[in-house]
This record gives sequence, structure tokens and C-alpha cells, in this order.
Amino acid sequence: MPNNKNIPTDGQKLNINLRVIQSKNPAFHVGSHVVSRCGWRTHAVSDGKDLTPIMSDWAPDVSLSLALGTIGMPGLTALYGIEEVLGLQKNETLLVNTAAGAVGTVVGQIAKIKGCKVVGSAGSDAKVAYLKELGFDEAFNYKTVPSLEEALKKAAPEGYDCFFENVSEACTVLRMEGFMVNRWEHKHPESLKRLMAWLKEDVSSNCGIKCMPTFHFYKNGKMVFEFSGANLETLENKLKELR
Ligand SMILES: NC(=O)c1ccc[n+]([C@@H]2O[C@H](COP(=O)([O-])OP(=O)(O)OC[C@H]3O[C@@H](n4cnc5c(N)ncnc54)[C@H](OP(=O)(O)O)[C@@H]3O)[C@@H](O)[C@H]2O)c1
Repeated sequence: MPNNKNIPTDGQKLNINLRVIQSKNPAFHVGSHVVSRCGWRTHAVSDGKDLTPIMSDWAPDVSLSLALGTIGMPGLTALYGIEEVLGLQKNETLLVNTAAGAVGTVVGQIAKIKGCKVVGSAGSDAKVAYLKELGFDEAFNYKTVPSLEEALKKAAPEGYDCFFENVSEACTVLRMEGFMVNRWEHKHPESLKRLMAWLKEDVSSNCGIKCMPTFHFYKNGKMVFEFSGANLETLENKLKELR
């Protein structure tokens, strides 16, 4: 049942992470977690056809909400776009637009892991700052630069090898290929493991994929806590402490 009339419950559009509480389907055990396109709601009934089980060896210290983002469909889209469509190679320069979104942030970070130069464009200065925090080499606000052409030239005077077009506007390139993430559905289990490994690298060593921006918490005008990373339990505990 939907839990708030102001949030979308359109099952065709919204992925949600659910815990199985009753099951007559041996493929889905009570207590397991699944991703469903049933829309944002507290409870749902399913015959199992629209459910994707979350990988069985999900790292316990990684928030399950990432199954909807970095370790889910957006992360897979980034990975396949880079490896299967663009064939991005070390030392190449990549441009990605909508760079601060769910797909774009992972695109840029995977490209960095692969030893590339990454330029991102986004629609606000805060997003640009976030991209720099994530390790993008260059980022600009496409809404405020005086000339898009100049901004692109300034960010990469050497030119671009690949463009991850993330908005679906038409663009002029020599070769253009669109894709849907499920073209490589057979690779999903292995790919999710790779995304999880990159995420864990970041959690333990500060390289790999960062999945969350850094949050600064203020009390009486003073910053008392900085949080970044995937471990929401740390965040919860710290917030309890500060209350
Ligand atoms: N092919 C596939 O299988 C596949 C899979 C997943 C997603 N996608 C597509 O990949 C794209 C990025 O997905 P995402 O999940 O990363 O998106 P998202 O996190 O929801 O990011 C949305 C961002 O798009 C930018 N944007 C640019 N033009 C816009 C417009 N006219 N209206 C609204 N937003 C606009 C805005 O950022 P700025 O402020 O920076 O402009 C907005 O914040 C989407 O087009 C999505 O449909 C494709």
C-alpha cells in the first residue's frame, strides 16, 4: 500500500527495495531483500516475476539502499556504457553530462578507476563541487558557462575520445549507439560483484567508488560532524550521540 499520497507509486517507473515477509515462492525466502518496480509503498504482493533478488553475498556494512543506485541498475548502466559500448581505454578523455546523477557519478568514477581523464557537466555549482569531490578532473556548470564550446575546450584542450550521453538529447558524433541496461542481463550477477568490490575499496581505502556525497552537520553554527561513505549505521549512531 502506498505510504504517502505525495510520493510516486507508479510501478512502471520506480524501483524500490523490499524485504520479503511472507512467501510461497521457493525462489524468495522470508527475510531476503528484492528490488521491485512496484512503486514506492510499504507493502506489495507479487508473483515473483517482477522481483530481482539482491545479490546473496551483499556486504553487511553496505547500505541496502545502494541496490537502487551504485550497486543496482544505475551502476550497471554506467559499467556497461563504459565497457560494452564506449570501450573506454586507459589515458583516454571522457565527457559525461548529467554527471552528478545516479548514472553519471558512477560513470566518472569507473572511468577514473580505469586511468582516464574525466570531464563532467552538471546543472548547479553544488553539483560541480560534488563532482570534484568524487575525483572528476574537470567539471563545469553548463547553465552558467558563457560558452559551452569554450568550457569544453578549456576542460580538455586535447579533445575528447568518448562522450557518455546521459540526457538523451541528440548529439553529433561519428558513431552513436544507444543501449538499454538489460542488453547484458546475463552479466548482471558478475557486474554487481565488481561494483560492490569497487565500493568496498572506497570504504576501506578512499579510492574506488564513493556512493554518497560528504555531509556536514552543524550545531549552534559550528560543524560538529562530517560524514561520507556507505555505512549508514555510523551516521545513525553519530546522530543519536549528537541529539
Ligand atoms: N539506457 C538505460 O538502460 C538506462 C538506465 C538507467 C538510466 N538511463 C537514463 O540515464 C539518464 C540518467 O539517469 P540517472 O538515473 O542518472 O538520472 P538522475 O540521477 O535522475 O539525474 C537527473 C538529472 O538529469 C539532469 N537533466 C538534464 N536535463 C534535464 C531535463 N530536461 N529534465 C530533468 N532533468 C534533466 C538534471 O541534472 P543537471 O542539473 O545536472 O542538469 C537532473 O538532476 C536518464 O536519461 C535515464 O533515463 C538509461
